[in-house]
Amino acid sequence: MCGIIGYTGRNKAVPYLLTGLERLEYRGYDSSGIALIDESGISVVKRKGKVSALRQAVGDNFTATAGIGHTRWATHGEPSQLNAHPHLSENGMFAVVHNGIIENCSEIKQELKQEGYSFLSDTDTEVISQLLEKNYRGNLITCLKDTLPQLQGSFALAVLHRDFPGTILCAKKDSPLIAAKSEDGCFVLSDTLAAREHISACYIMGDGELALITENSLSFFSADGTPLSKEPHFLSGCTDGADKGDFPHFMLKEIYEQPAALRDTLSAYVKEGRIVFPGFCLSEREIKAIDKIHLVACGSAYHAALCSKYIFHQLTDKEASAHIASEFRYDSIPLSENSLVVIISQSGETADSLAALSLANSKGAKTLAVVNVENSSIAMKSQSLICTLAGTEISVATTKAYICQLAVLYLLALYIGSHSGGYAPSELLQQLLSLPEKVEKELLQNERALAAADLLKGSEHIYFIGRGTDYALSMEGALKMKEISYIHCEAYPAGELKHGTISLIEKSTPVVALCLRKDLFRKTLSAIKEVRARGAFVIALTAAETAESLTDCDFVICIGSAVSDMLTPFLDAVPLQLMSYHTAVKRGCDVDKPRNLAKSVTVE
Ligand code: G6P
Repeated sequence: MCGIIGYTGRNKAVPYLLTGLERLEYRGYDSSGIALIDESGISVVKRKGKVSALRQAVGDNFTATAGIGHTRWATHGEPSQLNAHPHLSENGMFAVVHNGIIENCSEIKQELKQEGYSFLSDTDTEVISQLLEKNYRGNLITCLKDTLPQLQGSFALAVLHRDFPGTILCAKKDSPLIAAKSEDGCFVLSDTLAAREHISACYIMGDGELALITENSLSFFSADGTPLSKEPHFLSGCTDGADKGDFPHFMLKEIYEQPAALRDTLSAYVKEGRIVFPGFCLSEREIKAIDKIHLVACGSAYHAALCSKYIFHQLTDKEASAHIASEFRYDSIPLSENSLVVIISQSGETADSLAALSLANSKGAKTLAVVNVENSSIAMKSQSLICTLAGTEISVATTKAYICQLAVLYLLALYIGSHSGGYAPSELLQQLLSLPEKVEKELLQNERALAAADLLKGSEHIYFIGRGTDYALSMEGALKMKEISYIHCEAYPAGELKHGTISLIEKSTPVVALCLRKDLFRKTLSAIKEVRARGAFVIALTAAETAESLTDCDFVICIGSAVSDMLTPFLDAVPLQLMSYHTAVKRGCDVDKPRNLAKSVTVE
């Protein structure tokens, strides 16, 4: 993870760097720093904590027109001012910011120490600045190309050299890095969001590529130092998402943006009553030949996979399974040209999902990316691509991107079903298209969610239960609640409770029971009765028709709109998100930037 920005141009660098770092905080926010360069040399300012602390420390003192900045999510070494980037080399010749992990850093450090180099931090990054200084013979690109083969692991690097004010040296392997020109200078960025209003086109660096950036020029090189010509990617007109508007938090804003995000996503792929996926390049024959669909993702995206697995089984004749990306890699799952591996990711940069994609590509499987960031690594390395159109999502806890992932996966199940003899009812497509209005209606649950949050805010543990898609939603509900409120939450299939977990239920233990699916209602009701009999405090989410049977529960949230059982996940997501949000706010947590988390997890 970690966010990088570099600027060199005609204006002062500090405002670009600090604003950019604030926008990149979603990638990590335990410490941050900048290095500025001018004729008098390199100056470094670093602080522990959020970028606001750095902003205060930097003040208005610096007039340099070039610099690099970094916001950190700690991997090697605790979050501290000392471990914050940039890291200087022994004699202050190089300053380096780094995103990624250097796996052989201990060996390099040991060798360099024997040669007399000293280290100030516990980071892996410091070995890079030291190696650069050791390998420097007067040419920046030669120095970089000689140094990189010594590094094992992943990196996106932006580097300053004391003798070259106005020049930023860059390199990338397995962590994203983008170069771009603006009217008054050039940028290097982890994400275009960091300088979105200044750039209209960008150059996405490929693995092994190097770049040299000056005030007026972007030059690219392959790993052996040969100059490369690269095509620009033009960015869409959309610059949304960067501010909270009237909302107190990005998360709440994004929850309320869900109807629009769903509308945009559905209307992009449903034209005149037909599903069209221009980026899905499998022929009808290839679709028919698919024998297994693997849905692979991390975090909430995995929960979208888990939920849609049930839908693939209902709508297609294919076997589908959901996998946590980091586990998929170690499972020796048989893959062939008839396997379809769908990688689901908001950021398109999650390291484990990217590695799972590489594995699937290398085994000859058909690969499809469902991502929210069009130019991301996962989008570019996948054979087929379907983008969710959620817009920029800032809050670490995903909401609108998750619901759009569900929408795309449902459409995909319908599409595959209709092209391979599965069951693809047109009423379901019509109901999907009506979801934006229905989700909008569920936003009216805000008051109920607030009341539920009052009941939950003092809890130490909360259990979430459900069956089928309600179980998949329980998983997402528990993750949302734990990641932002820091309450220990666990989700269980309702039927599995009695095989162990019920022993944890005692008087007043909170249980959130999801019983939206009418076909499974009676079964989940039995589980509710079992926990009630042991004193649990039960909050139930259910449909209007079944609410009356829940007189025994302590608190009921009744989902307003009637939809088929298959579509309930879109509706129960909303009160679950709102309940988690309000609980976290009531506990005084930093909702948009929960402790220890980052939105884009670019390390394994
Ligand atoms: C992090 C985020 C989650 C997200 C997960 C996967 O853990 O906090 O909200 O679901 O990464 O991220 P991706 O970008 O691949 O969807």
